Amino acid sequence: MSRPHNTLTAAALLGALALPMFAHADPCKLEISGNDQMQYDKQQLTAPASCKDITVTLHHNGKLPKEAMGHNWVLVNAADVAAVANAGMGAGLANNYVAPGDKRVLAHTSTIGGGETTSVTFPASTLKAGAQYQYLCTFPGHNALMHGTFKFG
Ligand code: CO
Repeated sequence: MSRPHNTLTAAALLGALALPMFAHADPCKLEISGNDQMQYDKQQLTAPASCKDITVTLHHNGKLPKEAMGHNWVLVNAADVAAVANAGMGAGLANNYVAPGDKRVLAHTSTIGGGETTSVTFPASTLKAGAQYQYLCTFPGHNALMHGTFKFG
């Protein structure tokens, strides 16, 4: 990470087959954290169009339980943020605050509390290259602060 030119050169020379050798730098594996102040640590995530699958790992760095300060990571089209948040609220914690079968949800993690980690892996074919999406936490009331832009491609 401290020598980006070397990393880029290696990737260009060796191609996609070399990527598993450098798992710590896999651009298709993304990380984001939430805290007890109802915040994500990143307002934007980016995955390259070359990804076959995309993995997003969510860490909850706080201490509060998921019943009080639950966080998840839900990927949607920008136009669907409010509707998905609303439907998720009604679905409750038992459903991770995601309405079962909600087709507007492109990918989502489970809902976690302080000290926990969760992840989701989804096929990149779910997304259109060059498009921008939004991610949010659908715990009731959280999406106003907990949202960001997801760029693909
Ligand atoms: Co939250």
